[in-house]
Amino acid sequence: MKRTIKLFILLLIAVATSTVALAKTEVVKLVTEYHENPVGIDIQKPRFSWKLISNAENVMQTAYEIRVAGSKKDLSKKSKQIWNSGKVTSDKSVNVVYGGPALKSMQRVYWQVRVWDNKSNKAGSWSNPAFWETGILQPKLWTAEWITLPNEKKYNGKSRPAQYYRTGFAVAKKIKLARIYATSLGLYQLFLNGEKVSDQLFTPGWTSYNNRLQYQTYDVTPMLKKENAIGAILGDGWYRGNIGWGGQHSYYGDKLALLLQLKIDYTDGTSETIVTGKNWKVSNAGPVVESDIYNGELYDARLEMEGWSNTGFDDKKWKPVEVLNHPKDILVASQGVPVKAIEEIKPIKQITTPKGEMVFDMGQNMVGWLRIKLKGQKGDVVKIKFAEVLDKEGNFYTANLRSAKATDTYIFKDNNEVVYEPCFTFHGFRFVMLEGVAKAPAMDNITGVVIHSDMKPTGTFSCSEPLINQLQHNIQWGQKGNFLDVPTDCPQRDERLGWTGDAQVFSMTAAFNFDVAAFYTKWMKDIAADQLPDGKITHVVPDVLKGGGAATGWADVVAIIPWSVYNVYGDKRILETSYPAITKWVKYMANRAGDDYLWTGDPHFGDWLAFASNRSDYPGATTDKDLIATAYFYYTTNLTGKIASIIGKKSDADYYKEQAAKIKAAFNAEFVTTNGRLMSNTQTAYALALAFGLLPDDLVDKATKYFTDDVTKFKHLTTGFLGTPLLCKTLSAVGRDDLAFMLLNRKGYPSWLYPVTEGATTIWERWDGQKPDGSFQDTGMNSFNHYAYGAIGEWLYSYVAGINIDIEKPGYKHILLSPHAGGGLDSVSATFMSMYGEIKSAWKIDDDGMFVYTVEVPANTTATVTLPEAYSGSLKVNSEPATDELKAKATQNDNNLVVEIGSGRYEFKYPYEVR
Ligand code: BGC
Repeated sequence: MKRTIKLFILLLIAVATSTVALAKTEVVKLVTEYHENPVGIDIQKPRFSWKLISNAENVMQTAYEIRVAGSKKDLSKKSKQIWNSGKVTSDKSVNVVYGGPALKSMQRVYWQVRVWDNKSNKAGSWSNPAFWETGILQPKLWTAEWITLPNEKKYNGKSRPAQYYRTGFAVAKKIKLARIYATSLGLYQLFLNGEKVSDQLFTPGWTSYNNRLQYQTYDVTPMLKKENAIGAILGDGWYRGNIGWGGQHSYYGDKLALLLQLKIDYTDGTSETIVTGKNWKVSNAGPVVESDIYNGELYDARLEMEGWSNTGFDDKKWKPVEVLNHPKDILVASQGVPVKAIEEIKPIKQITTPKGEMVFDMGQNMVGWLRIKLKGQKGDVVKIKFAEVLDKEGNFYTANLRSAKATDTYIFKDNNEVVYEPCFTFHGFRFVMLEGVAKAPAMDNITGVVIHSDMKPTGTFSCSEPLINQLQHNIQWGQKGNFLDVPTDCPQRDERLGWTGDAQVFSMTAAFNFDVAAFYTKWMKDIAADQLPDGKITHVVPDVLKGGGAATGWADVVAIIPWSVYNVYGDKRILETSYPAITKWVKYMANRAGDDYLWTGDPHFGDWLAFASNRSDYPGATTDKDLIATAYFYYTTNLTGKIASIIGKKSDADYYKEQAAKIKAAFNAEFVTTNGRLMSNTQTAYALALAFGLLPDDLVDKATKYFTDDVTKFKHLTTGFLGTPLLCKTLSAVGRDDLAFMLLNRKGYPSWLYPVTEGATTIWERWDGQKPDGSFQDTGMNSFNHYAYGAIGEWLYSYVAGINIDIEKPGYKHILLSPHAGGGLDSVSATFMSMYGEIKSAWKIDDDGMFVYTVEVPANTTATVTLPEAYSGSLKVNSEPATDELKAKATQNDNNLVVEIGSGRYEFKYPYEVR
């Protein structure tokens, strides 16, 4: 008995202390430049972010203090600190700029932060330390030399064998820290003593190689031994493989090369550097005989070189390398998000097609490759082919891959069982066909390795309609498949390029689903690097189309993505760094438009892939390209004015606003009748004019009527790449959620749900990629994994679920929670992991006709909640009638009740009339 009481008391104490502990505000999730403990960065004034967690409500940070030191233990020693911000009165916890002295190359420093909040006057405890480490900050510190294979055969239409490099070295002393800095012309994979150095794939990534070539930094301290061997494989990749159409290859150069520097710091204070140079050896007689992003890999196991990257390997037959003269001042630290193998999936069924093909269905259109266990005899050749869809008859269909062979080939060296996966290629596929295999392997022996940039998932959206949930799934998989170091249009055919238009329309949706801050920050630098001297932004970035550019709605990416990043992460720096490129682009447009402020006569993609019809009296919804170009000219000029004012360029801001006003007047005079009808009577034209704020106040209602009449008449969307992302947003903004939901819920072609009802697992490039009769759209352009139309995702999160940004306090510092019920949905739930913490917005209409809205607002943020069809009299908050205090702060805005809240979790409940 006594023992039970004792235990009970102990339990009470434990509960009590844990509650006290939880009630405190804690500082967690420290990141530097959006990365956790980044190694090898070259940003001189990195920015710090942290999150507060607290169980209390209405928590705001009131001050912070950051300290930086050379080691964890020196953080608390004043005299040893490199920088101490002192107590700064501020509620800023995102992107706080390091204010200490410039760091040296290859220096690691630790930082931690403590905060004060509005709940107590006392400083909180110091966070756990985090660190960042600089890379090689000056080109002259690259003592390594570029090395390459001498006398390589000329290109003869096929990928040339991968190149294997190696050297050995000894380590005599005790190691404190060892880092490899490495990059290549072509793709590389590194090995140390026979082990892979990293799980990063497709290094050094894809950038505007001639201007910016990334190197990666790896901590190899635990991998080193007394005797060591280091090895690297180089493959063609984007650098000299097939890229673009028409057999274009070797776009950046004809020679592969490796540049590597290993710095070892010893515990005795000395250090040593091992570098690529003449003492390395190279062979191109290894098993990777061909490797090409579009065409796949040819792996001949008979050529395997057992132990080639380990000590004790006999490299007598290998050749000495040749030193290549290639610049080093183009080297930059890698800043994006590394590509990795993120998940694995298993086939859902094996099929023998009518043609007799041995096919496996992975159940998901995915990007990556197959890891497969195979049995064979010496010399057997197994081919693994990839396809996104089966045709009408159920046969393997690859015509939409155009010239991409998308085939991995394995040649057996013995009679044995092997596990094979390729290294320098990837495929976009749901179906896999095996050739050269007598008996189908068990499904268990087959794994789909899904690769993409390792962005952290940040958003979830689900609702009571399974088809819409599948749409959300498809949008997310479209993003996974196409965020492979750069945002690509598609992952399967002979294209896979960083199309700027696709990326800009999808950027806000992308930023709901995954953390894309670092990913876009890196890509924007390539956009600027590839900008042409006259200001043109190229169609694809990195540009491999030889400088084509300046397409309206595509080139505007230069301003739109930085703006998205500013909105979502409150990142001002990307506005500052992109500003020169943005203004050059605006100037280009102004020059093309000339004195009349109308941008006319230039070629554009326009509202790409908009609805087309077979009816002789209605060819489809074609929106005049001059109208679109002038609309975007206005939008980007106006946006540039806003950006200028945010980054403190007052006179520029005034200038761009004036310019924008002139464009607006010209647009109205040229493209809008006095009755508010647009020259192109299309959904896209009205969506652009209304969403961009191009119309004078007195024409808004009239134009809205033409717009909504068109949607009502067709009962379906007619938009292409540029109109689609704005369509539902604009309908909701003009008060026509009903029409927006009608478009969302439509299941027939053209609609978002048509592909879903056809079994799609990703977003299609065309509204009718596969037609109801099973036939396909034109093979010239028919990707089944193209995220552009997935831009509807932004509307799902921001309107249907109601998570919105207040541009006055970007980065979700102040959140606008404003759900829109409708479309027959009973419930919707969304979460978003903001830089401050998780935001939740979930509503349901329960059986008693009550609207139940649950929200979560992270610490150090505030929110304005707009409750649809609500009145304070009948409102319950967290099961209690609304307090007088809340009522006093609430405002009735027509049928909506607007409530201001601080951080915490709230449930609002009130009788709701379903519209
Ligand atoms: C791409 C698109 C791109 C378009 C521009 C296509 O080949 O796949 O997504 O935006 O070209 O015309």
